[in-house]
Amino acid sequence: MMMNEPIDPPHHFPPGFVWGVATSSFQIEGGAAEDGKGESIWDRFCRNPGAIADGSDGDIACDHFHRWREDLDLIAQLGVDAYRFSISWPRVRPGGAGAWNARGLDFYERLVDGLLERGVKPYVTLNHWDLPAELQDSGGWAHRDTVHRFVEYALGVHERLGDRVAAITTHNEPWVIATLGHETGVFAPGVKSRAIAAQVSHHLLLSHGLALQALRAAGCKSQLGIVLNLSPIHPATASAADLARARLEDGRGLRWYLDPLFKAVYPPDVLDFLGADAPRVEPGDLQTIATPMDFLGINYYSRTVVSADTPWDTARGGMAVTEMGWEIYPDGLTELLLRLHHDYAVPPLYVKENGGAFKDQVIDGQVHDADRVAYIASHISAVGDALAQGVNMAGYMVWSLLDNFEWASGYEKRFGIVHVDYPTQRRTMKDSAHWYRAFLQRQRAKNATATVSKGV
Ligand code: FCB
Repeated sequence: MMMNEPIDPPHHFPPGFVWGVATSSFQIEGGAAEDGKGESIWDRFCRNPGAIADGSDGDIACDHFHRWREDLDLIAQLGVDAYRFSISWPRVRPGGAGAWNARGLDFYERLVDGLLERGVKPYVTLNHWDLPAELQDSGGWAHRDTVHRFVEYALGVHERLGDRVAAITTHNEPWVIATLGHETGVFAPGVKSRAIAAQVSHHLLLSHGLALQALRAAGCKSQLGIVLNLSPIHPATASAADLARARLEDGRGLRWYLDPLFKAVYPPDVLDFLGADAPRVEPGDLQTIATPMDFLGINYYSRTVVSADTPWDTARGGMAVTEMGWEIYPDGLTELLLRLHHDYAVPPLYVKENGGAFKDQVIDGQVHDADRVAYIASHISAVGDALAQGVNMAGYMVWSLLDNFEWASGYEKRFGIVHVDYPTQRRTMKDSAHWYRAFLQRQRAKNATATVSKGV
């Protein structure tokens, strides 16, 4: 067990608050070509020399495709309320259009039923980046037709699973897909064009709105929303140039997504900045994007400090950093949640991802990841601070259940609260998993006592 048990965050989290753990399909499943799965843009991207730090790919990953029962047992042992996972679009509809792959849908059906049998609520993400490669061949997210393929995909998943899943997220982190996938090109599909990136972001948002409308029209009862990666932007100094740059980056990273989703407009300062690279927006698109959601998910890892000469930097704030080089700054999460609460008419908020990569060592079958425990506890506390100030918080999920394929960093960065020894695929609960489990037990006990003392 743990050496220095950290003090639990002192806050009160109401009984209905949803505690969970999260993963995504490409990062854990493996089974890259099994049971009729098609190729995704990440399968392809991994083959580009130099694209992935350790030259690895997702062919086997955590072998979750075969070991899902064992993984569901781990989730059940943690005592979480919910498990957030994503569906691999090319596993269920290999070419992104045309024939469906029943065996792929069967896999997710087994997963969903397995969660329900264990008393865990399934939280499904439709697009955690692994677009079918064939759709990329016809333009991918830059092509407006992909929007309609996504709506079909959403409806197909709903038809099979919609009666049993608690929540459906359309997209995970559209900023990452647009900017890292299409502007800087460090993620799949590796395109480098600011204009294409802007068009991609618009199509992602549009497909989100259209999918929500189509799912509701089909009678979907699951909660519907999107997950954004939001990092508060702080100017490095109070100089006019740094402040101006910070405002622009806030526009590009946060308001570019929040304003259309909640106000049906793109921020004018970012449109000015993009000039001829601004996306083509058809009449009615923005109203579609602003279709009301049941929840907004936020992935929070760090703040970003910017200056006129060094726009993006998650490591320069001066606090300790994780193995990703991301500054550990829990106050940024409270700041962000309060801002969303004050500036936008947001639905209930979830932290859908939060966690840290640290250097882990297995010693005598144990992993003493005190840094990760401290990271998670301090961020839960930051959520508690927001809750105490009136923010409508619905839940918190740790990234990640398992160590996994961390995109361009390959397997070198470990985010799991469960350690994975890749050669043997052995899973070992780290101290952080033990702590999370015990913390959740203490939360439930507190809520039970409160209920009894109220005589309810
Ligand atoms: C987020 C991704 C997730 C994981 C974490 C560390 O951007 O959504 O898949 O890689 O970062």
